[in-house]
Amino acid sequence: MSYDEKCQLLIIGDSTVGKTSILGRYANNIFNSNYLATIGLDNFTKDENIDGKNVRIKIWDTAGQEKFQSLTKSFFHNAQGIMVVYDVTNSETYQNIKYWTQSIKTYMGNEIAKIAVIIIGNKIDSNEREVNKNEAEAFCSELGYPYFETSAKTGKNVNSTIKYLVREVLKKNNLNKTKSFN
Ligand code: GTP
Ligand code: MG
Repeated sequence: MSYDEKCQLLIIGDSTVGKTSILGRYANNIFNSNYLATIGLDNFTKDENIDGKNVRIKIWDTAGQEKFQSLTKSFFHNAQGIMVVYDVTNSETYQNIKYWTQSIKTYMGNEIAKIAVIIIGNKIDSNEREVNKNEAEAFCSELGYPYFETSAKTGKNVNSTIKYLVREVLKKNNLNKTKSFN
């Protein structure tokens, strides 16, 4: 399928928060309850019709275990939108949101105004929730980023959340520049 626009996103966050699962649900509508750690970098592509435009959405999946150690500055500069994910059943991953958003700032520098960033609390299907929704919302609003909650397991909010981010990227009119991951 041909496309009108290309949108390059990045998903980051601690290990096991469900980054790969969110992308598996979004791109292929699958969920695997077995944990298979992402090694290095992976990517998922999906074409979507967004407000009458065919958009090729490419999402780079990173390994939480490596944090940013193996990721280069130029890698961040190619992202048009970033999802920072934590696990609502694991408060430590919530505490680390600050680390991830701070890292985006450090790596993006002045470019940060050109990209869209959202924060996602995943695993809301679980009854072992540790992080309160209102508290997370208030915290993210203080940081200045929109907050969403998803379940990769049931699929709840996954598509709408990613579509929100794509729309924000389109709005920022950041597409079709000479940006490419190849
Ligand atoms: P790294 O690749 O190590 O960075 O981890 P990740 O963030 O990609 O996590 P991954 O998607 O591999 O998921 C980790 C574990 O959590 C797996 O066992 C998943 O099945 C499980 N999981 C992911 N999303 C959900 C969810 O929405 N609900 C529940 N209950 N479990 C989930
Ligand atoms: Mg992964």
